Amino acid sequence: MAGKLSGRMLLVVDGPAVLVHTLEFLRLARQNGLTVRVFPTASALLFQSINAWAAYSGQPCREFERLSEEDLQAAEVRLAAPASVRLLELLLQNDQTARYPWLLAPALLPEDKPEEVQQSFAALLQKHHKLLLPGADVSDLGAMGKLALASPGHCLEAALAELIPQELAGVRVLLTVGPTIEDIDPVRFISNRSTGRMGQALALAAARRGALVTMIHGPLADPVSDHPNIRPLAVRSAQEMYDATLAEISRTQVAILCAAVADFTPNIYTEEKIKKQGAEGMRLLLRRTPDILASLGQQEKRPFLVGFAAESNDLELNARHKLQSKHCDILCANDIREPGCGFAVRTNRITMFFPDGEKEELPMLSKDEAAECICTQIARRWAK
Ligand code: C5P
Repeated sequence: MAGKLSGRMLLVVDGPAVLVHTLEFLRLARQNGLTVRVFPTASALLFQSINAWAAYSGQPCREFERLSEEDLQAAEVRLAAPASVRLLELLLQNDQTARYPWLLAPALLPEDKPEEVQQSFAALLQKHHKLLLPGADVSDLGAMGKLALASPGHCLEAALAELIPQELAGVRVLLTVGPTIEDIDPVRFISNRSTGRMGQALALAAARRGALVTMIHGPLADPVSDHPNIRPLAVRSAQEMYDATLAEISRTQVAILCAAVADFTPNIYTEEKIKKQGAEGMRLLLRRTPDILASLGQQEKRPFLVGFAAESNDLELNARHKLQSKHCDILCANDIREPGCGFAVRTNRITMFFPDGEKEELPMLSKDEAAECICTQIARRWAK
């Protein structure tokens, strides 16, 4: 699935429309290549006109009451968000609409209990329907009160899961992501230029294929993706990343070690800020940090291992050596001297090396696209 996704979506918006929610959802959906046709109910039209919805979605818009068989059939994914209880009953009891699978995001009152809502609709929900229940977020509609609704990000991910083959469904994936920070004293540290973007792209690509991702990460340049399958665990130093990874490893089926782990850490941490007065220079003594990937490779029951290598010379030779010495199943290498590759940029040109002697050379791609290609290889090779 390299490259951009495309998909036709039908969105029913019911009153009271939570405009900020729907606008954010439409922005995310369009950014992810979905074409969304909005069908507002009569009560939603009390808040926004047909023309406003057409402009927000960039597509022709019609009233929900005029939704046809053709519209239902043309859509690859159907979402009702927000959906009042009345709309839910209507969609699920009407033979014409209930035949198609729906994603249903009910608008709840903050005091409603999601489990009770789920139970009350259990009889009506056929297997192909999914109820998207709210997390902790509550939308404040001012004078109209408060509503709880699944977040725009969760609605988007549920829609994408209908379109993307779930080839890693239920697979427990562990990722190490971003730089580590090695503290010298309370204000100074050693780190590197990693942004965590390659790792974040991999976490999202794996989660979108159905994997359950634990992402152990250092400080990141971007916020963690809002995906229900991603569980972030923040750490700081290489030692903390090592400890967190080993604590998770017995539950892990695929480990992707993408972090730019500091190779050295100060020998001692100085509790008080080191003073410069009177000193011409200073000597900082460093010691090696644990190699997380190498230790996983040595485990008796090791997970499927994906390693990374940023090389500045003899790419293939060094990558093949790392593949073998660290017992990886896939080694993703890139040449850091090439412009647009590696640290602090949004693109990368990766070559994947495999133990059977094969390799796959990817062209220069966005990190999101490269992550898709890596996940395709993982899905192809891990269960063999
Ligand atoms: O040996 P080198 O650092 O080039 O290996 C890179 C690979 O090893 C990456 O996958 C990186 O995440 C992992 N690594 C690690 N722990 C370290 C150093 C590197 O897991 N201390």
